[in-house]
Amino acid sequence: MIDNNFYEKVFAANQHWIKERTAEDPDFFTHLEEEQNPDYLYIGCSDSRVHANEIMGLKPGQVFVHRNIANMVINTDLNVLSVINYAVEYLDVKYIVVCGHYNCGGVQAAMQQLDYGILNPWLRCIRDVYRLHKDELDKIEDKRQRFRRFIEINTYEQCLNVIRTGEVQKAFHKKGYPRVAGWIYDLHDGTLNDLGIDFEKELENIREIYDLTKGKSLTE
Ligand code: CO
Repeated sequence: MIDNNFYEKVFAANQHWIKERTAEDPDFFTHLEEEQNPDYLYIGCSDSRVHANEIMGLKPGQVFVHRNIANMVINTDLNVLSVINYAVEYLDVKYIVVCGHYNCGGVQAAMQQLDYGILNPWLRCIRDVYRLHKDELDKIEDKRQRFRRFIEINTYEQCLNVIRTGEVQKAFHKKGYPRVAGWIYDLHDGTLNDLGIDFEKELENIREIYDLTKGKSLTE
């Protein structure tokens, strides 16, 4: 059912929020008005239950955020590529985090043999990740466990996609950052789990094929 008072409630809540913030810190908005200087870029799922600032305990101004269905980093998606470029080149972020979450509806849809119309190309990118890890995933008999594992694997693969971007390779070469991390948020109890990516090892592996700086040829 549509809540006809939704707008009124939102604007009233906004006024209440302003009062609360300024009671806590009279300079709250003066600080926010200054230039943003976040150390983190967070790439997460659009899921309404997973809120970047809240789960990381960060205030406005501390994290630059990009969200889409199933926290994908797709090589031809100008949206996510622009966000990464801006975060690395202009905001000079020190960390890029890709955060997946258990019970992700996007990943679940990709695991169904169904036609989702306009969503098909997006889901296809998730299905491609399944294909890459089919051997491991098919061996997991418990479907719930398989779903959970696929969410972890998909998040890991999206971290690799971040590392493959020209921005991250060039910036790391020059400045020694940003570092890339993969996390999984558990809706069940609110815990963030670190996937424990060995960033330098992954960067080294990726450079065999994706290096943009050496000028060597793989054909000779
Ligand atoms: Co999701």
